[in-house]
Amino acid sequence: MRIDIISSVPDLLASPLNESILKRAQEKGLVEIVVHNLHDYAHDRRKTTDDYPFGGEAGMVMKCEPVFELVEKLREERTYDEIIYTSPDGVRYDQHEANRLSTLGNIVILCGHYKGIDHRIREHLITREISIGDYVLTGGELAACIIADSVVRLIPGAIGDEASALTDSFQDNLLAPPVYTRPAEFRGWRVPDVLLSGDFARIARWQDEQAWERTERLRPDLLDDGNRNEAPKTPER
Ligand code: ADE
Repeated sequence: MRIDIISSVPDLLASPLNESILKRAQEKGLVEIVVHNLHDYAHDRRKTTDDYPFGGEAGMVMKCEPVFELVEKLREERTYDEIIYTSPDGVRYDQHEANRLSTLGNIVILCGHYKGIDHRIREHLITREISIGDYVLTGGELAACIIADSVVRLIPGAIGDEASALTDSFQDNLLAPPVYTRPAEFRGWRVPDVLLSGDFARIARWQDEQAWERTERLRPDLLDDGNRNEAPKTPER
């Protein structure tokens, strides 16, 4: 998979994309993440990527020319499955969308900034607008990092334990069951006995029950999504 990220503040992306699991996934050749500095595609002396909005409103608007030039150059090199724009106006990002994106070959993520981007970019270039939540960030870079992180960890081989991505919270619309590690007792608080039993069928049943109980209590909205009438599912192990 290849992810091209377009930003006018590319330094904001460096650390989140180059540590830990994302770093290793790139080293293993599972994903190529390329960050492009939009200023490199602005041809005036000051490398301007934004301008005043028509109509006299406050704030600056990202210009068409650098974005079109860069995306068209990328498209000459390969085809893209989605050209994503990160914006609070977009569809709300969730695990289903992360799963879908992780199956694609090449995607572009254009980080929004300033007051917005010229609407012609949205109409004629962007294929998907994504919001990471109902709040406004100073720019789309953090949203792009969240999308890249959640997608890359789903690529087979990206995380050590292949099964663990499948048992994440939100896969199957269920929250994950609680997990514990050593010591078995800390300050008098004991790990549930079932987890120490060595009986893996019983442990799996307990984990399912916990997942359902926690989802009903903490995120009942997740169960409205067609999950409510299904029997608890034991993930394959
Ligand atoms: N840019 C600013 N706010 C955003 C949000 N909530 N999601 C995605 N991109 C954004």
